[in-house]
Amino acid sequence: MTRYLITSALPYANGPIHFGQVIGAYLPADCYVRALRLRGEEACFVCGADEHGVAITIGAEAEESSYEDYVARWRDQAKETFDRLGIEFDVWSGTSVSPFHAEMSREFFRRLDENGYLIRRASEQFYCPKDEMFLADRYVTGTCYVCGHDQARGDECPKCGTWLEALRLEVPRCKVCGTSPERRQTTHWYLDLPKLRDDGIGPWFEDHPWKGNVKAFVGAMLKDLQPRPITRDMKWGIPVPEELLGTLAEGEPDKVLYVWFDAPIGYVSFTREWAEARGEPEAWKDFWRSPDTRLVHFIGKDNIPFHCLIFPSMLFGVKQDYVMPWAVPAMEFYNLQGRKFSTSGNWTIAPDEHFTRYDSEATRFYLLSSAPETSDSEWSWGEFQSCVNASLADTIGNLVTRVLRFVAKHFDGQLPALAPALEDEVRASLLEHSGPFADPVDDILAFRFRRATQTLIANAAVGNVYIDREAPWALRKSDPERAGAVLFGACQWIAWIARWMVPFMPTRAQEIWEMLGGSGPVAAATTDGVPTAANWRLLPAGTALGAITSPFEKLEDATIQAEVAALEARAGN
Ligand code: MF3
Ligand code: ZN
Repeated sequence: MTRYLITSALPYANGPIHFGQVIGAYLPADCYVRALRLRGEEACFVCGADEHGVAITIGAEAEESSYEDYVARWRDQAKETFDRLGIEFDVWSGTSVSPFHAEMSREFFRRLDENGYLIRRASEQFYCPKDEMFLADRYVTGTCYVCGHDQARGDECPKCGTWLEALRLEVPRCKVCGTSPERRQTTHWYLDLPKLRDDGIGPWFEDHPWKGNVKAFVGAMLKDLQPRPITRDMKWGIPVPEELLGTLAEGEPDKVLYVWFDAPIGYVSFTREWAEARGEPEAWKDFWRSPDTRLVHFIGKDNIPFHCLIFPSMLFGVKQDYVMPWAVPAMEFYNLQGRKFSTSGNWTIAPDEHFTRYDSEATRFYLLSSAPETSDSEWSWGEFQSCVNASLADTIGNLVTRVLRFVAKHFDGQLPALAPALEDEVRASLLEHSGPFADPVDDILAFRFRRATQTLIANAAVGNVYIDREAPWALRKSDPERAGAVLFGACQWIAWIARWMVPFMPTRAQEIWEMLGGSGPVAAATTDGVPTAANWRLLPAGTALGAITSPFEKLEDATIQAEVAALEARAGN
């Protein structure tokens, strides 16, 4: 039986989560998992914080916190943001605290070594004599040899985006003390990617049906594969297996696994943690080592090389029948009002503050409707407003409130009866004559989140067309039986809308379902995709409505203008 293993890129535990990340890797994954479950599929949704590496140690050192406290704080804060957004992982953990993580990471390393896919090699690296340490990755800064930017880091130039070789930086400096570093010999392990490619994984990469933007990347990378270093001279991280250190020369510093080596193994170790917590300690293997698993990595495009090439190579290289990724629906970049999100530049939306003023369900929906699926896109406050006002409040909200309030007032708060003589007519008016409709779950399962949001709204519009044409308000006195029959149909349609809303706005979906008097979870109302003659009735006549509230508040122009002005002011524009 097919099982789905869904991962969201592990966020670095070194800062707040912004909406660009949310729509890049977390919200679409949550929406996808909910859609799978509506279809009755088995899914496990895994995430946690990425807690090693230089981005973390530099952050903690800058504020004089211990590494442990620092990552714990950001790990908890990220989780709070996800909770506020209704993003529900089956497991949320962290790479420095998960009980299986360090040992599983070392096990990967050992097996890759045994299978001949690691190379040990001594080379020169920058060393700061004052701080007495090798300057891994971002511990060295200097001038980029590609674009001339003078704040380039040892691993990457933030301006031109090139992956840099630290030793080629011009005017190198120690990030900690500013000293000009010297060069010293040190030993590291490298993942032999060319050998992995030649041993059989090459054709798999070439033939895999990658998403368009991913395929281009993978193709280019395969042409120029080099062994990549997977250890670092640092104290914070997962120590290299003891027995492999034994043969190193005296005086070699502490060696840990490179953060990008251990982080994706977090997907595996966290799944094991999940299995253990459910009392089925071996169940993680049903997901990771079964040919029936579909492994889906939700990531932003900057993570493509690691998820489409390096981590699959690792999974292949340990030779333990690990699954390969089935799909990597990488998102492009998401900006804010025409510019990149930047926490340090104050060009951002602080999630905790945002949710004190705005509905998190509407925020989910807008983010999904503007997802950077095939090209970069952005959060625009004006578009957020029109999405909330026109799509959510006017189309869904208006249908719900006008129908349910009318029923509450004139039909004793109960779902009216559908007179048998009117059955065929009402059903045809609703299902055949009010417009085409489709199941948004089909779009979601094809990773077309934007289109899925449009499908949902189009379906709500069908309900409005129906009710406008049938105008039960005009019939109430002249033909109450017919008015009741029409409202019966409208209420069924609202029930379907609630069910279709589940992957996008799970809480609001349930609330609408309860306004209709539905009991139990709305997601259980039916497992079929669209209403048909056989299943269009989800609720029986006589069902007592719940309390009716307006599902979506409209946003005033003044609110939005103030929001944009505050953003500009914070950024100093
Ligand atoms: N922390 C990385 C980032 O935010 C993503 C790590 S994904 C993992 O870009 F697979 F390595 F876990
Ligand atoms: Zn220094």
